[in-house]
Amino acid sequence: MTPAEAQQRIAELRAEVARHDELYYRRAKPEVTDFDYDQLKEQLAALERQFPDVAGALGVDTPTARVGDDRTEGFARVKHRQAMTTLDNTYDEAELREFHARLAKALGSEDLAYTVEPKIDGVAVSLTYERGVLTRAVTRGDGEEGDDVTVNVRTIHGLPTKLAGAPLPEVIEIRGEIFLREEEFRRINQLQEEAGEAPYANPRNLAAGTLKQLDPKLVGSRRLEIVLYGLGVCEPAVVDSQTGYHTQLKAWGLPVVERIWSVRGVDAICAAVQELDQVRRSFAYGTDGAVVKLDSFDQQRHPKIGFRGMGADGKAEAARKLSPRWACAFKFAPDRAETRVRDITIQVGRTGAMTPVAELEPVFLAGTTVKRATLHNADEIARKDVRIGDAVLVEKAGEIIPAVVAVLVEKRPGDSVPYAFPRHCPVCATVAVRGEGEVVWRCPNPHCPEKVRRRVEHFASKAGVDIEGLGEEMVALLLEKGLIKTIPDIFRVKVEDLLPLKKSGEVWAGNLVAGIDARRTADLWRVINGLGIPQVGAAAAKDLARTFRSLDALAVATEAELLRVDGFGEKTAAAVLAWFSESTNRQLLQDLRAAGMSPTPPIAASGALAGKIFVITGTLPTLSREEATAKIEAAGGKASGSVSKKTHYVLAGEEAGSKLEKARTLGVPVIDEAEFLRMVG
Ligand code: IVH
Repeated sequence: MTPAEAQQRIAELRAEVARHDELYYRRAKPEVTDFDYDQLKEQLAALERQFPDVAGALGVDTPTARVGDDRTEGFARVKHRQAMTTLDNTYDEAELREFHARLAKALGSEDLAYTVEPKIDGVAVSLTYERGVLTRAVTRGDGEEGDDVTVNVRTIHGLPTKLAGAPLPEVIEIRGEIFLREEEFRRINQLQEEAGEAPYANPRNLAAGTLKQLDPKLVGSRRLEIVLYGLGVCEPAVVDSQTGYHTQLKAWGLPVVERIWSVRGVDAICAAVQELDQVRRSFAYGTDGAVVKLDSFDQQRHPKIGFRGMGADGKAEAARKLSPRWACAFKFAPDRAETRVRDITIQVGRTGAMTPVAELEPVFLAGTTVKRATLHNADEIARKDVRIGDAVLVEKAGEIIPAVVAVLVEKRPGDSVPYAFPRHCPVCATVAVRGEGEVVWRCPNPHCPEKVRRRVEHFASKAGVDIEGLGEEMVALLLEKGLIKTIPDIFRVKVEDLLPLKKSGEVWAGNLVAGIDARRTADLWRVINGLGIPQVGAAAAKDLARTFRSLDALAVATEAELLRVDGFGEKTAAAVLAWFSESTNRQLLQDLRAAGMSPTPPIAASGALAGKIFVITGTLPTLSREEATAKIEAAGGKASGSVSKKTHYVLAGEEAGSKLEKARTLGVPVIDEAEFLRMVG
């Protein structure tokens, strides 16, 4: 490779890795597997090492010299007392041996003590305990400064807010990983799909997405869990080894990994790693490897060990510490299998989104038979050049939805042609459109039968008005028989229309019609949610119902009024305005009314705090957070997770941090518990 070629490739790889960092760390929606990501990053690092001058000339801004930044809007930023570093991953046992050889040389001994621990596939956080009390929880962020997620972390099941027993350091940063169990992941994804939203690909992404929710109530409704293993600042020091630290964490009552291995020498490391691979599937969390650590803290701090803090020129040890050389992360290669793409089909969603799916020759992989894999979107197909007839590798690495990770080009049939993403909707043949800056192609035809089917299904589903007996199959049948064409037609179905559909179906037909009838007065928020307005899920639908109290009022809401709704930003407001400005949607509302639909508005908030939005921060003298929230809601108010211009009061207790500062900056009144209790009477 010439330096000019290297320059171009390094620039390309930097942009690509940075894009995947954004997708993984900030949006929790990665498009490639961890394995592919690791390989891309390693390619980039190798080129930067090989062409240090070229890399240096391109600037120091490279993903290999920073940790993936997870900071997002809506959270206060907090500096870590001690930087939160990370580790590069290796898949190669030889590198484990090199890791040991380097340490043995630096410390002048082969006989070194290590721990081998499961590498948890979760989201890293740092908890600060001061004199034994949990005061802060912060994400890794850029390693120096992360997002304050204390409110959300306090909802975590099994995390004590007080350490049990001595010794209690003045201040300690305890680090670990937040995760979701597989059962919980499945439960939430099911709800997600019922609400018409894209399912999360794996438990890690869902845990990351949940931790960054602005509504602590939603976070509390998902059972996040945590395990702790790492140490930041600790004043004064209370332990001197990783093994001792693990024991101390347990003694404090904190959740830790089921098992760590204390070993000496490199052969024992490799044996422990293999043993871990045998037992890891029984753990509560997903594991993607092993982390090997030098056990003694004195040895970890030995000046000859140091950190990797590579500058972009590949030579300079930058001031930033990226990853310590006393630890090494070894990853297990993911479960992969080879199969063939029989066909590529297009799924049309409720909003018209056209999602390509690889129809595969069935293959057994990690315990299940895989027949289909998502191909995400047209750009992804083009990037991987997936063709019908191709031999491909599919992978499930903790992922529930399998992904096509690579095409085996050498096995490609001679007559294959690149896949041409359809320019038309496969169902109604309307020309597909793609919004500016969007990756998704959509069918724009509001009458597309597939969109209609999915819309009706959604309206009738548990996330919508919840009509008993009107599930997917029944919706399809009623549409097929021409008994309904649109959502409002549901309310015109009569028993006699249904009778010919089933033999001796009187009881069934009567029940279905009664079920439909009962939902003419469904809660307003369910109707709003059932309409499938982009950007509006259950929480936003509830806020809209509370604020506008009827579909008619909502239909004429102005942008300014929508922006006043708690939690609404410009994007959501614009989506609502756009939906109600479409003539087919206005017709739909009129038809619903004509068909006798009359949604029930929420019980008007009366009470002393009617319509008032509160944010609680810090520890209150007598009330727990849950008790204060209950009092606010009982008095007709709402407890929100983040301070904005829409907040009416910030209720602050001891150790209130960034939210208090934000309230002061925005001029939001701050009250204490005594004043709050006077307000609620
Ligand atoms: S120790 C200096 N131990 O994996 C960083 N990390 O690839 C020391 N992780 O950033 C990290 N399980 O977020 C450590 N038992 C474990 C871990 C673990 C998961 C994560 C962590 C780290 C990354 C390293």
